Amino acid sequence: MDEIARSQRKITNAEKGLLAVCADVAQDEAFPALDMAGSGDRLAHIDQALPVQQIDSFNHYENSSSRRAELLEMPQDKLSPRKALRDEFKSHLTPEEIRELDVDLPAGANHYRAFVGPPFNYDINGAMQFQFLLDLGLREYHRFLEIGCGSLRLGRLLITYLLPDRYFGVEPNEVIFRQGLVNNLGSEDGDMVRLKRPTFQHDTRFDYSFTGAPVDFIIAQSIASHTGVKETRALMQAIADASHSGTIAMMTYIRCAAETQNNTNDGWFYPDCVTYTDGFMAKMAEELGLHAYRTRWPHLNQRPDGMVTTQTPLILSKTPWRPTLPHRAYGIRFEGIVPLHVPGARP
Ligand SMILES: C[S@@+](CC[C@H](N)C(=O)[O-])C[C@H]1O[C@@H](n2cnc3c(N)ncnc32)[C@H](O)[C@@H]1O
Repeated sequence: MDEIARSQRKITNAEKGLLAVCADVAQDEAFPALDMAGSGDRLAHIDQALPVQQIDSFNHYENSSSRRAELLEMPQDKLSPRKALRDEFKSHLTPEEIRELDVDLPAGANHYRAFVGPPFNYDINGAMQFQFLLDLGLREYHRFLEIGCGSLRLGRLLITYLLPDRYFGVEPNEVIFRQGLVNNLGSEDGDMVRLKRPTFQHDTRFDYSFTGAPVDFIIAQSIASHTGVKETRALMQAIADASHSGTIAMMTYIRCAAETQNNTNDGWFYPDCVTYTDGFMAKMAEELGLHAYRTRWPHLNQRPDGMVTTQTPLILSKTPWRPTLPHRAYGIRFEGIVPLHVPGARP
């Protein structure tokens, strides 16, 4: 194609989608460079550069199936990212691997990979959690609590990364936990377990005193997407109890905009999901003495029935969140972090 024809060519929908993503990134790149002198920290720059409305529109983008259709180059009425992703994943596996990894099982099925989500994104889901934690400042010397560690989708990466005696995991489903331990780290008392000495607890009590002392980092990924009101409060209370003043906790939930969609029931809903408003989370955090922030995490998921179950990360801390020295020194990238406001309260 010559230069003129190229410039006049009609832009396709998929290209428009990609251009929009590039524009998002370009906007991010426009953040002022880190101020090593420390006079203005990066959070302050981000607060100015990225108003809350922009974060909301980013999340709207995440939740927009028309935008997904555009990016996946599929008509919206035929949109089935699950099938496309599963087929793509399977195309790289041998028939034995497809059987062993049980790729065709639905999320929630009784298999160590399927129990925690779609088996075809087990790898990338754990890796995205790990990457997110690095962006939040996780170092190998931190003591880490994973609430609902499942089959160690994330835990396998954390246990190898952290120094010995630093990882604490809670998982009530001992069957899938042990399958995960064996398949991801070799065996229940293998070299990795003996080298890193992780500690595990198996119950649903939301009591993390087994960590012995407050930890530095906490994650509860895809737990509050299944907990009723009473259990979500117990989870957040337990996070507060396991935190010291510098602890960073990341708890995900599935956002809804309408009050009418805010779950009001107690209990554990699985593999069903429940949704909460930002205001619900902000109010609960305030009542428990925690600062609550939202940020970006391009974690996508859509169930076969069409419900978008994208997890929104909620950052919780006892003191206002600040970039750490390693953040500033190494220029660790993190997406905009903005306070969650309690409805009716003055921002
Ligand atoms: C959707 S899975 C997510 C697992 C893991 N966080 C991950 O991302 O791979 C939810 C997990 O929470 C566990 N769970 C259920 N009730 C719990 C409780 N009260 N405390 C901690 N975990 C719980 C389930 O057994 C399940 O493994």
